[in-house]
Amino acid sequence: MATKKNLTADRSSVVHKVRYALRHPERIGGYVRRAARDSWLRTKHRDHVSYYRAVMASDTARNPEAAVGSQTHDRWLALGKMQFDYLLGHGLAPHHRMLDIGCGNLRAGWRFIEHLHPGHYYGIDISPDILISAKQTLTRQRLQEKLPHLTITQDLKLEFLPTAHFDVVHAHSVFSHSPIEVIDECLAHVGRVLAPGGFFDFTFDRTEGEEHQVLREDFYYRTQTLVDLAARHGLTARFMDDWEQLGHGQSKIRVTA
Ligand SMILES: C[S@@+](CC[C@H](N)C(=O)[O-])C[C@H]1O[C@@H](n2cnc3c(N)ncnc32)[C@H](O)[C@@H]1O
Repeated sequence: MATKKNLTADRSSVVHKVRYALRHPERIGGYVRRAARDSWLRTKHRDHVSYYRAVMASDTARNPEAAVGSQTHDRWLALGKMQFDYLLGHGLAPHHRMLDIGCGNLRAGWRFIEHLHPGHYYGIDISPDILISAKQTLTRQRLQEKLPHLTITQDLKLEFLPTAHFDVVHAHSVFSHSPIEVIDECLAHVGRVLAPGGFFDFTFDRTEGEEHQVLREDFYYRTQTLVDLAARHGLTARFMDDWEQLGHGQSKIRVTA
């Protein structure tokens, strides 16, 4: 079941916005409120991470599951299972060590934690609010004995983590909310923490037209841009065709050292 992705739309253009509004008049109010809130937050927070942290605080206060992109609990469960099943199919074994960048409230994380040996899951996120929700997920799923690491971060330099440690590094629906400087920083440093034979999987919002962003919340990149960026840091990037078959709105790239 492949999703029909719109790979050519420029969602930042006025023409696109007007056409979208005409097709979905019921969504105009919500969009205007979000745009107004985001402009206010951008005046208070000049750098992207601080701004996006404030967006997450506002969204999480309303509904933590919606804040990570799932409008219902069933969708939250299904999206976590999709991520977990995919990595299981790619050989994720209990002895592996995993770094989950932008772990959110453990939508997929709780399944990884359950599967991996104690202490082998390391989740990082820029949002303290979503990490509080992550701990609630951990408690609800009774996974205390697995002793996962859940840590706040301000950047993606990863300097507090050991060299050649993680078999799998994972970032689902994180670069879809990241300007290119954040992705560049991550790709500059992720190679150091990857264990021999390890890989880094990330999803991104793909466009085959103009690269663009909406409200500094959603960023659309061409595959080649990200493949080239990885290469500049000595990494090999591969577009994951089998992920496309699952019907998710974003695409996936796998990076190896
Ligand atoms: C859409 S949610 C996805 C959460 C989780 N990966 C999942 O699939 O359920 C994006 C998460 O990434 C976090 N995030 C955004 N930018 C980040 C960054 N530069 N570094 C770490 N986390 C980030 C957000 O706070 C949020 O929790």
